[in-house]
Amino acid sequence: MKIKLEEADKKGTVSVEEAIARRKSRRAFKSIKLTGKQLSQVLWAALKAPSAGATYPLALYVVIGADCVEQIEAGVYHAERGHSELERHKEGDLRAALADACLGQRFIAHAPVSLVIAAEYERTTRRYGDRGVRYVLIEVGHASQNVYLECEGLGLATVAIGAFYDEAVSRVLDLPRQHRPLYVMPVGASAEKL
Ligand SMILES: Cc1cc2nc3c(=O)[nH]c(=O)nc-3n(C[C@H](O)[C@H](O)[C@H](O)COP(=O)(O)O)c2cc1C
Repeated sequence: MKIKLEEADKKGTVSVEEAIARRKSRRAFKSIKLTGKQLSQVLWAALKAPSAGATYPLALYVVIGADCVEQIEAGVYHAERGHSELERHKEGDLRAALADACLGQRFIAHAPVSLVIAAEYERTTRRYGDRGVRYVLIEVGHASQNVYLECEGLGLATVAIGAFYDEAVSRVLDLPRQHRPLYVMPVGASAEKL
C-alpha cells in the first residue's frame, strides 16, 4: 500500500532563529490526529539532511497508530529520499510494542507517530571504509536536528530517543537486516503550552 506525501512548504511562520531558540525535548503528546501535510513536512525535513559523499545511508520508517494520521491506517511505513510516497511495510498499531522496545518509555506509545531512523552503514563504508561509520552517526544527528526544528516550526512536540534495545526495535518493525535502528523520534501535537 502506497500513500502519497504532500509537497513540503518551503516557507513557515517561525524563523530559523526562533526554532533554534525554542527547541527542546518534549515528551507530552495530545491524542489528536496529525494531518498528512504535517507528517509530510516532518519527513521531508528528516530526509533533507547532508550526507557524506551523497551516499545517503539513512532509511526512514514511520510507526503510525490507529486513528493517528488523517486518512492513513495504522502500520509501519517506509519513506525514501526523493520519493513522494510512503510505502506500508507492516500492518498494525505497534506504538506500545515500540515503547516497550525503548526501555518502556511510555510517552512513545502516546505519540501518534514515531519516526525510526535506521542506517545502512555499507552505503557509506563501501566508499570511506571504517571512517564511514563515523559519517553515518554524524548524519543521523543532522536528520534528527532537522526533525526537532521542523516540529518546532509546526508547533509539534518531539524528542530524540537513543535508549532502546536494537534487536527489539528491529523485530517490532521487521526491519531488513541491513537497516540498523539509530534513533526513535515520537512526534505529535504538544500537550505542553508552546
Ligand atoms: C543521543 C541522545 C539520546 C537521547 N535519548 C533519549 C531517550 O532515550 N529518552 C529521552 O527521553 N530523551 C533522550 N534524549 C533527549 C535528551 O534527554 C535531551 O536532549 C536533554 O535532556 C537536553 O534537553 P533539550 O533537548 O530539551 O535541550 C536523547 C538525546 C540525545 C542527543
